[in-house]
Amino acid sequence: MTAPVLEIEGLNVVYDTPGGPFHAVRDVSFSLASGERFGLVGESGSGKSTTILALMRMLRSGWVESGKVRLNGRDLLAAPASAFRQLRFAEMSLVPQGAMSSLNPVLRIADQIADIYDDHGIRWRRGEQIEAMRNLLARVGLPPTVLGFYPHQLSGGMKQRVCIAMSIALRPTLILADEPTSALDVMVQKQVLATLGRVQRDLGASVLLIGHDMALMAHFVDRIGVMYQGSLVEMGSVRKIFADPQHAYTRMLIDSLPSFNRTRRRA
Ligand SMILES: Nc1ncnc2c1ncn2[C@@H]1O[C@H](COP(=O)(O)OP(=O)(O)O)[C@@H](O)[C@H]1O
Ligand SMILES: [Mg+2]
Repeated sequence: MTAPVLEIEGLNVVYDTPGGPFHAVRDVSFSLASGERFGLVGESGSGKSTTILALMRMLRSGWVESGKVRLNGRDLLAAPASAFRQLRFAEMSLVPQGAMSSLNPVLRIADQIADIYDDHGIRWRRGEQIEAMRNLLARVGLPPTVLGFYPHQLSGGMKQRVCIAMSIALRPTLILADEPTSALDVMVQKQVLATLGRVQRDLGASVLLIGHDMALMAHFVDRIGVMYQGSLVEMGSVRKIFADPQHAYTRMLIDSLPSFNRTRRRA
C-alpha cells in the first residue's frame, strides 16, 4: 500500500451568518489513495462544496473550526500562505463549481493559462510556452486555435475542457472537481467526464469528484461518500453502496434513479 494522497480527519467548517454561526461540515473524515477516484454525493446544501473549498482555502465568510488535512503527508491547514499558493495547481487543483463562469471574460484562453505558469515562476524559452499550451489543449481534445479565443467564443463543453486543461497544467497529484458537468447536456456530460478520466489516468492523479447524479458518479468513481446535512453518512465502494446502502438517505438517492426492471412508484 502506498501512502494516501489526501487524508481528512474530523473536519468541521463553520460559516458566519447574520443568524449566527452555521455549522456546514460536521466531523468529516475520509482519505484518497494514489490514483483513486472518490465521489462525494448529496443534495444541494449538504456541504460538498464547502468541504473542498476548505481544502483549497477558498472559503468566504467561513473557517475550519477543527480537523486535520494532509496532502501527500503535509499538514495543509498549517502551511503558510506563500507555500499554499505554490501548492495550488502544482499539487492540488480545483475545477470549481460553475467553472465555465470562472473563466475571465476579457482574457484570451492563452493568457489565462499563461497566468498559471507565471504565478508559479515557470520560465520558458521562446516558443516553448505556446507549445506547452497547445499540448495541454490537445490532451483535453481541443484544437490549438482555442488559445486565441475569448471564453464567449466557446461552447459550454469547450469551456469546461479549458477548465480541466488549466487544472492539469502543472501536473497535480490531486484534482478536485465540483460538479464539473452539471451545466452541460447529457451527451456532453459524458464526453467531458471521459476527458477528465483520461487526463487523470495519464497523470496518475487522484480525483475527488462532487456531484448529485448517482448514475453518472457510479460510472466514474471507485468509491462513493454520501453527504447529508454536513455529515458524511456513508462511504464505500460503488458496488457496495448500490448493493447494500445502509443509510435511508443513500437508499433514497439510489431509488430516485430510473430503472428498467423496477416499476414501483418513486418517492
Ligand atoms: N458563504 C456562506 N455563508 C453562509 N452559509 C453558507 C455559505 N456557503 C455555503 N453556505 C451554507 O453551507 C451549507 C453547505 O453549502 P455547500 O457546501 O455549498 O453545499 P453543496 O455544495 O453540497 O450544495 C448550505 O446550507 C449553505 O447554505
Ligand atoms: Mg456545491
